[in-house]
Amino acid sequence: MKKHVIQCEFERYENAAELSTEDQELYAKAVEISTNAYAPYSAFNVGSAVKLANGEIIVGTNQENIAYPSGLCAERVALFSAHTLFPNEKIESIAIFAFSKDFAVDEVVSPCGACRQVIAEYEGISKQPISVIMGSEAGIIKTNGVNQLLPFRFSSTGLKN
Ligand code: THU
Repeated sequence: MKKHVIQCEFERYENAAELSTEDQELYAKAVEISTNAYAPYSAFNVGSAVKLANGEIIVGTNQENIAYPSGLCAERVALFSAHTLFPNEKIESIAIFAFSKDFAVDEVVSPCGACRQVIAEYEGISKQPISVIMGSEAGIIKTNGVNQLLPFRFSSTGLKN
């Protein structure tokens, strides 16, 4: 038996002003769109903004439903829309922001497992790491590449040949 350890690397920012100009622009779009979330059940508004290689920014918000599992996270709304509108463009980065009018969001929001798997899929076809910028009133975290968030991910290699 041999024990292995996987490390995860991330950057922590106190506020958006510390981000690069490009990341600030993307993060601002996620913050702005978060007010459009349809989250009557959780009161947890999430906004997401996806940056493509052609410079386009596609946004999304969480969309809930009275049949709870029918709803979708902001990240997947934005990613699926981006890949629908621009199927041949590489995805460079995604920003996520969460707030609630009812309670303090005192942790940085990070994508759920299903959203990580979706980011991993697009990273695979983009053949370059996708940066993930995650924020709330608690601060901002940035990771470079979904590998930092989903190191032991399911990959299709075992399915082929
Ligand atoms: N949610 C997102 O949109 N993104 C995340 O990264 C975490 C959770 C949404 C799903 C649901 O509408 C609400 O937040 C509470 O889980």
